[in-house]
Amino acid sequence: MSESKQIVVVGLGYVGLPLALALAGEFPTVGFDSDPVRIEQLVDGFDRNLEIESQLLSKNNLSFSSDESVLDGAEMVVVTVPTPVTDDKRPDLSMLERASAMVGRSLERNPVRNSVPIIVYESTTYPGCTEEFCGPIIAQESGLQLGIDFLLGYSPERTNFGDAEHTLESITKVVSGQTDYASEKIAEVYGKIAKAGVHRASGIKVAEAAKVIENVQRDLNIALFNEAAMIFDRMGINSASVFEAAGTKWNFQRYQPGLVGGHCIPVDPYYLTYAAEQVSYDAKVILAGRRFNEEMVNLVADKVTTMIESTGRLASESSVLVLGQTFKANVADFRNSKAKTLYSILLGSCRSVDSYDPYEDTSLSNDHLFESDVKYDAVILAVGHGQFITSARKIVDLVESNGVLVDLADVFAPEIISNSDVNFWKL
Ligand SMILES: NC(=O)c1ccc[n+]([C@@H]2O[C@H](COP(=O)([O-])OP(=O)(O)OC[C@H]3O[C@@H](n4cnc5c(N)ncnc54)[C@H](O)[C@@H]3O)[C@@H](O)[C@H]2O)c1
Repeated sequence: MSESKQIVVVGLGYVGLPLALALAGEFPTVGFDSDPVRIEQLVDGFDRNLEIESQLLSKNNLSFSSDESVLDGAEMVVVTVPTPVTDDKRPDLSMLERASAMVGRSLERNPVRNSVPIIVYESTTYPGCTEEFCGPIIAQESGLQLGIDFLLGYSPERTNFGDAEHTLESITKVVSGQTDYASEKIAEVYGKIAKAGVHRASGIKVAEAAKVIENVQRDLNIALFNEAAMIFDRMGINSASVFEAAGTKWNFQRYQPGLVGGHCIPVDPYYLTYAAEQVSYDAKVILAGRRFNEEMVNLVADKVTTMIESTGRLASESSVLVLGQTFKANVADFRNSKAKTLYSILLGSCRSVDSYDPYEDTSLSNDHLFESDVKYDAVILAVGHGQFITSARKIVDLVESNGVLVDLADVFAPEIISNSDVNFWKL
């Protein structure tokens, strides 16, 4: 890959924007997004996801555009558009379809190049999607031949946003290409930005499957720990102590039970179960885990109301505070947030429910919350934002005497609770 040739990143969200920035450190890079407002904001130095600081958005080698002609002549295009599921939990490939058609139109406008253009997909999808769904769309739109006039690649994104340790630079990047040539070129480009190195998967389907199984594994393991926690709770056994004891065995893998939201872990398993269906296989284990994790928020809401009532209060006369509304800690991402679902469920059964999240504009501000005298019958710590960890003692003080404190994110150390009179439950 020549260093003067341009790379275009299509879809500047949580995945695409940091990728475009990293690539721009090595190659002239254009970030394309179909949302002109997103582009205007980025040009003005504002990332609405609050992941990238303003000054980093004005790199020499990086420009932003919502004009699809910027794809013309690109040596490599990387597609990072969303891949959600439909209401009936089937892959929603509409954005991949639109992005692929756009790449095809660009190739049609500029068919002659010095090197064969490579289209790399980073969007999470099922094995076969890149070569059997996206590639043919590009071929049809461009009139060019897949595998000859243009080549495909796949490199799954596995960065953990909101986690300073597992970044694009510090984790191994899996790459794959349709041919050895494509695989080599893609490895060369990603090798420059993934300082921990690249792993060349033996094929595109292998790389697609690797991504999806990573998230299926996480979903299933959390489901197992969630179910175990609910069983032990009914038995009056502290599940955290059980996991701690079991964790002393050399091959016991410990997971933190909790609400599974967002756009990856609760979504990606359906891509695999859909692909399984296409080969006449009815996935059972994967879907069982999914169902349990979806049900978990109802079980937690029941537990909260049961605990409130065990203190002699009526849930319908109680005030509740839910801390954290994002789908996970330390990100401004509210997509498919189960903390929000919990808030809504409790609204239906409690007298009043407040919520506070440092990433959300609500009527409660940090100062208002911790500096006022307001106390709640029950406080639920739903998301383990750093700010809540450092304010753990103050959070305990928000609970009325003999009230309820529920920790869904493993935030409260025993010594913080020990001198209080709260009824504490930890998932
Ligand atoms: N966010 C994560 O933590 C994460 C991690 C690993 C993998 N992924 C996967 O990466 C992909 C992108 O996820 P994300 O979180 O960055 O999404 P996102 O919603 O943050 O951003 C996607 C961007 O793509 C743009 N877009 C949509 N359709 C487009 C089109 N046709 N052409 C150009 N731009 C278009 C949107 O305007 C948006 O700015 C998904 O497949 C997701 O599953 C996400």
